[in-house]
Amino acid sequence: MKKFSKLSIISVLLGVLVLFTACSTTTGGESNTKDDTSSNEEIVTKLDKIKESGKIVLGTSADYPPYEFHKEIDGEDQIVGFDVEIAKAIAHDLGVELEIKDMDFGGLLMALNDDKVDFVIAGMTPDADRKKVVDFSEIYYTAVHGIVINTENEGNFKTVEDLAGKRVGAQQGAIQEDIALEKIENVDLKSLAKIPDLILEVKNNKIDAVVMEKPVADSYVDNNSDLKLMDLTFDDGEGGSAVAVKKGSTDLVEAIDQTLENLINNGSIDDFVVEAIEMVESE
Ligand code: ARG
Repeated sequence: MKKFSKLSIISVLLGVLVLFTACSTTTGGESNTKDDTSSNEEIVTKLDKIKESGKIVLGTSADYPPYEFHKEIDGEDQIVGFDVEIAKAIAHDLGVELEIKDMDFGGLLMALNDDKVDFVIAGMTPDADRKKVVDFSEIYYTAVHGIVINTENEGNFKTVEDLAGKRVGAQQGAIQEDIALEKIENVDLKSLAKIPDLILEVKNNKIDAVVMEKPVADSYVDNNSDLKLMDLTFDDGEGGSAVAVKKGSTDLVEAIDQTLENLINNGSIDDFVVEAIEMVESE
């Protein structure tokens, strides 16, 4: 009897010990989890800041119809285009207001890194050099590049060989600078900050041609009887436009990708492009 009760005391003690260990492990585990959560909460991400401020600031270069361009609507100058519609959808999904900052294309990534803007949508190609300094969403739209010339030169410029040694324009900081240098032999490249200035140079025969994404070339040619598009197009290896965010803004780029995926899958991007082209045509 005595022996038995000794044993039972030991087993009770053992049981308590096991329970205690189990409990303390659980408690330890819980408090670890808690610690992790609270330290995560202390890291204020780009997305947190955007949500807290109630607005997201878009950086764009509104000289690129139908991607983004100025249009007078009800007597008011507005920035419109399919990139702007995408930006609106992103802001809407995040539950914040959209503010648009229009700047030179060549200054956009700097503005992103200086936190002057939260994201960039500007028909921007996610090429290897840019990927070193910013992060990109998935590609939302693809296009080849077209070459705009003066109607007077229609007969002279038919092939890429005809452009050899000619004065060809491209936007400063855009991949078309490299495309022109790579594809056109001995090209005499002229870079300007704004697409309309390049267009003016072609119209005035100061330069012979200008390279830009084909939908943009189409827009300018359709609105200027002095301009024509060469039959030639150029491809780039990177394949399209993506949204840029500051490097390391993982949660923001994930949210943007989610919106883009929905817009691509439900055909909204295609609709935005059609509507934007219609807006260019009704200028
Ligand atoms: N896709 C080209 C690039 O990324 C040109 C884009 C120009 N965009 C503009 N909004 N002007 O370099």
